[in-house]
Amino acid sequence: MKKIKMGIVGAGVWGETHASIYNEHIFAEVVAICDIREERARQVAEKYNIKEVYTDFREMAEKSDCDAVAIVTPDFLHADIAVEFANKGKHLLIEKPLATTKEDIYKIVEAVERNGIRAMVDLHNRWNPPFNTAKQKIASGILGKPYTAYIRLNDIKWVATDMLSWSDKSSILWFLGSHSLDTLRWMFDDEVKRVYSVKRSGLLKELGVDTDDIFLTTIEFKNGGIAHMENGWITPNGNTNINDFKFSILCTEGMISIDASSHNLIHMVTEDRAHTPDILVSNTVFDRCKGFAYESIRDFIDRLIDGREFRVSLEDAKKSALAIIAIQESAEIGQPVEVVEG
Ligand SMILES: NC(=O)c1ccc[n+]([C@@H]2O[C@H](COP(=O)([O-])OP(=O)(O)OC[C@H]3O[C@@H](n4cnc5c(N)ncnc54)[C@H](O)[C@@H]3O)[C@@H](O)[C@H]2O)c1
Repeated sequence: MKKIKMGIVGAGVWGETHASIYNEHIFAEVVAICDIREERARQVAEKYNIKEVYTDFREMAEKSDCDAVAIVTPDFLHADIAVEFANKGKHLLIEKPLATTKEDIYKIVEAVERNGIRAMVDLHNRWNPPFNTAKQKIASGILGKPYTAYIRLNDIKWVATDMLSWSDKSSILWFLGSHSLDTLRWMFDDEVKRVYSVKRSGLLKELGVDTDDIFLTTIEFKNGGIAHMENGWITPNGNTNINDFKFSILCTEGMISIDASSHNLIHMVTEDRAHTPDILVSNTVFDRCKGFAYESIRDFIDRLIDGREFRVSLEDAKKSALAIIAIQESAEIGQPVEVVEG
């Protein structure tokens, strides 16, 4: 069977993850990689046997005969790259968030529709086993209708201060809030009507990173559901897991609770701290990639091969991103904000 020829733009931490998944997939191969840091692009190319290396995505769009492109650049640098490759007829896997401004969101949607290509956004929590199970139970109807929910998805400070070089140009709302928001929309099977968010900042600024610390948001859905969403980048670095991830949903005839980060499936203690390794998210078993963060990327290839719809549509990602923009605005002005299209 034909292999999907993949290109990757952005050879950072997550771009390398993409390369490893395509490299392992029997129906995919990575033919091109691009990063403005040439040395880094060459390093990843050598490790995964990628023949074409570029430092300019426009040159890659012009020259490469890849079938699809993964866009794995920082949160706010997705739109121009997506439009360039859409105009060349390449299918797209865009890392979350879709984009961080209304202008960029609509630019991507317009280019995808005009060129008739397929696009998925990597909102991977739908592949997270406990969440996927919760969704199946809710969809079966045995719990009645979703009524209220609480979701907390926080990172330790290190992600903002050390892991990402660009956290001051993004926010925890884009980096993790996009996952939380997509999860809520999916569970409620509904769209966000209105949001009210309160934020705090100062701790990260003191550490030299000019971004907000934490957002606490109330979300109202169109059909009456309510959720509370917490996203912060200030969990103490000593936490046993990078994430602090909790979820509960109260339905009219039942409820579900999930502890996705300190689950203690595996607990490891070294001289200086305790760890709860992220085995549900991303790990390897006999050198093969396992974990839901890999499954979403693999699923993109599967669905290009079998032609079925992506499990996260461009419309899903657009709606989540527009709701995040409303949350940002609400936290800025201290008032509830309606989510509006356009
Ligand atoms: N789905 C997930 O679980 C997940 C996990 C981590 C990151 N991400 C997302 O993936 C994206 C990348 O994150 P990361 O952690 O790999 O960041 P990173 O900083 O490690 O990598 C980004 C790379 O993009 C390169 N780059 C910047 N501008 C470019 C351009 N114009 N052309 C080509 N390359 C360019 C940088 O040099 C860098 O190597 C972000 O949107 C992030 O939110 C998703």
